[in-house]
Order: sequence, then C-alpha cells, then structure tokens
Amino acid sequence: MIFETHAHYDDEAFDKDREKLLETMHSHGIEKIINVGASLKGVRDTVALTERYPFVYGAVGIHPDEVGSLTEEDMKELRSYCDREKIVAIGEIGLDYYWDKENHETQKKWFVRQMDLAKETGLPIIVHSRDAAKDTLDIMKAERADHLRGVIHCYSYSKEHAREYMNMGYYLGVGGVVTFKNGKRLKEVVEYAPLDYLLLETDAPYLAPEPYRGKRNCSVYLTYVAQTIAQIKGVSYETVVETTRKNAEKLFKI
Ligand code: NI
Repeated sequence: MIFETHAHYDDEAFDKDREKLLETMHSHGIEKIINVGASLKGVRDTVALTERYPFVYGAVGIHPDEVGSLTEEDMKELRSYCDREKIVAIGEIGLDYYWDKENHETQKKWFVRQMDLAKETGLPIIVHSRDAAKDTLDIMKAERADHLRGVIHCYSYSKEHAREYMNMGYYLGVGGVVTFKNGKRLKEVVEYAPLDYLLLETDAPYLAPEPYRGKRNCSVYLTYVAQTIAQIKGVSYETVVETTRKNAEKLFKI
C-alpha cells in the first residue's frame, strides 16, 4: 500500500467531495496520508482531519508565502499541536523566491524560527524550497539541520544539491513532475538517488501527474508516479511502493 507524504485535503478544491474522496482511499491502495499545513487555518483544519480519519496524519507549519503576518503567539499555537500523537512533522516551511510574496529576510526568519520548533519537539521537517536553492542549503547548514530529520518536498534542484541533502540525512519528495515531459532534471535526480532516499507525494490539489496534468490532483494518482519511478530505476512497481512506504514510516515514526 502507498504512503502519501504530502497532500492538502484542507484545500477548498476538495470542499465539495472531501469526505467521499477520502473514504475511497483505501480501496485505491492508499494506506496513509500526511496532510500538510501551509497557513494557520490550514494547520487547524489539518488537526481536525487527523481527528476524523484514522489514516490521516498531520504536519503543522507555515508556508513561506504565508509568513507575513506571523507572530510569536502563532508559534505557541503551532507548538501546542506538536504533542498530539498524529502530528508527525513541522511543515511545510522554507523559502519561495518564485512567488516571492514575502521579502526574503522575513521568509528566512520564520524558516529558522520553525526549525527551532522542530529542534524543540524532535519532529522532522517538511521543507518547501522554490527558486531558492542556495539560501535554503546555506540556512539549513548554518542552523545545523543535519541534526534534524526531514524531507525536501517537491524536490526540484540538481543532483549535486540532492547529494548534499542526502548527506545531511534528508529524503527527497517526488511527485507528479517526474511524469512530465519537461521533468528531465527530476528524472535524472530519481535515477541518481538511492530508492532509500525517496518519498512519494502529490502536493494535492496541485501538480497532478500525466495523464491528469493540469487537473485536480489526489493521492490515488500516486500510482502513476510510482510507475514512472519504477521505470527510471529499473525495479518493480511493488519495490517502489514498499520501499518508499518504509522510508516514510521510518522518517515520520508511524
Ligand atoms: Ni505543499
């Protein structure tokens, strides 16, 4: 069964059929799901989803696009969720210079602050990094993120950077992009990285794999991602599903 390590079922894209969709996950081979918070509201909704569905786990964190109005009070609220059994990570946190919604110093400040939360609680981190390769790595090194555990979600950088992250003990999150015709760089990374360092993730409702590119994504489509990884690495589909599941269980201690 598949372990989905990154989805946003709190998103309004699922408002009309969330319950129906989540109830069909098991019959489609999806065993566990980590719902990832991106805003304060998203975090609260994530906690609620973990209470409602036995197979849904949660990550609490604020996405770099959403850090503009954060306060220390908000950090206290995040901290209060961390002791719950089904909250298994801090995320998604990081830097996004592609949308560039908040200035870089603000993004860096809250990335570091939320890494502190991970240090305090012992939870792994789920890192979002887009068009910010150098700063992300520099900050993580300066903050001794090698003492933490985690995943670089929606991995989009070079093989060389992948090596650096794997040396720090980090996993690489692989999703729909690996099936895209223009996903050459990610295909190279997947070929290069040992399967022991990969996690399956959708980022649903975003980034649906081929043949659903551009449509609303959901965890069921991870079968296409796993198939593509199996082809690239020359292993069976079952090997990809089982190994990435074990990787996720180890990282998130589930
Ligand atoms: Ni995400």
